[in-house]
Amino acid sequence: MSAPAKPPVLGTPLSPRAVRVMLLGSGELGKEVIIALQQLGAETIAVDRYANAPGHQVAHRAHTVSMTDRDALRRIVEMEQPDIIVPEIEAIATDLLVELEQEGAARITPTAKAAHLTMNREGIRRLAAEALGLPTSPYRFVDTQAALQEAIDDGIGYPCVVKPVMSSSGKGQSIIRGPQDVASAWKLSQEGGRVGSGRIIVEGFIDFDYEITLLTVRSRNTAGETVTQFCAPIGHRQVDGDYVESWQPQPMSDAALARSREIALAVTNALGGWGVFGVELFVSGDQVWFSEVSPRPHDTGMVTMISQDQSEFVLHARALLGLPVHVSLRRPGASSVIYGGVDAQAVSFGNVDQALSEPGVDIRLFGKPESFVKRRMGVALAAGDTVEEARGKANAASAKVTVRT
Ligand SMILES: Nc1ncnc2c1ncn2[C@@H]1O[C@H](COP(=O)(O)OP(=O)(O)OP(=O)(O)O)[C@@H](O)[C@H]1O
Ligand SMILES: [Mg+2]
Repeated sequence: MSAPAKPPVLGTPLSPRAVRVMLLGSGELGKEVIIALQQLGAETIAVDRYANAPGHQVAHRAHTVSMTDRDALRRIVEMEQPDIIVPEIEAIATDLLVELEQEGAARITPTAKAAHLTMNREGIRRLAAEALGLPTSPYRFVDTQAALQEAIDDGIGYPCVVKPVMSSSGKGQSIIRGPQDVASAWKLSQEGGRVGSGRIIVEGFIDFDYEITLLTVRSRNTAGETVTQFCAPIGHRQVDGDYVESWQPQPMSDAALARSREIALAVTNALGGWGVFGVELFVSGDQVWFSEVSPRPHDTGMVTMISQDQSEFVLHARALLGLPVHVSLRRPGASSVIYGGVDAQAVSFGNVDQALSEPGVDIRLFGKPESFVKRRMGVALAAGDTVEEARGKANAASAKVTVRT
């Protein structure tokens, strides 16, 4: 179903007039989207693969089901009859979303095509590089260690990066610095993918100056047209494929910013629909490479909860309901991740008072039922007169919080 041209009508939750929105994936990002939707009177249904996920705790109704199980997912959709389905993660039976969209059963945010293409690195990379002609790292898709070696020898070269085609948060990823790393990188890639062993992408390593997330929002204006707006660029630091801190705005040359917007416009136009997209880009001087895109709020965009008038979650909620959005930056801000640091159930957080004692500092504790050493359990947010000040405050605040069993 294409985006309806008529103005949206909002309803009353828990009544036949409700606008029902179902989140597929209900982690910390989904939780914030649900809160933003509820502020607009939507009826929310949170789905995740484990009980008491962050979004389950704030939605009108919660379901626990494997979202890669298309029959189970279809049963929940038929029972709940949502008007709008909002994928929050990549690991979903996206072929079912394509069917539901075709049947007109529900509107998919932003589109079923966007969810389907981005769940697999091959779909989105071929679209960006081959169909749209956008600059990316050199790459090859391979299915065996021998083919990996051949791709490297044939032009990808060293150093290069290996990633399972279906994986996120750096799982199964590694850098190959020379021939001695090929076997171990192949082995790791076969253990870290979402569906076990299989196809990988090998990419030439881009020696970028910095990387950004360009939050790009497609929304309906009051004339019924779909318009595209760009948030201020978000800089971030990744460790082992996971973001540890982000800040906004990332300083950029005018040329690099203009190029980034061109790339983001091209890729989001191709994916279509209404919602927030996190366009990941590498920048060196005025040169910009497309890396990947999330057709949903981005983890590095949590900083917008303190730096923008409308956070990426509010932007997503408004856009998917067909409402207008405003992307203005309020003040420089930063986010710093709070990791579990322990493997344990039902942890407690100490020193939160210390972390919050500084003005301009805020915190989110996600409420995840189980902590892992490297699981993101919360985030510290800080505003400042400059990005440097905000980063200093956010990092100091996250370092103060202790996690106890
Ligand atoms: N070709 C490359 N050259 C240089 N660095 C890279 C390259 N590919 C990935 N990286 C680094 O690794 C990080 C993670 O890569 P990527 O975003 O592709 O993986 P991911 O598993 O989808 O991560 P996430 O789910 O956290 O976004 C990038 O943000 C970047 O810092
Ligand atoms: Mg990424």
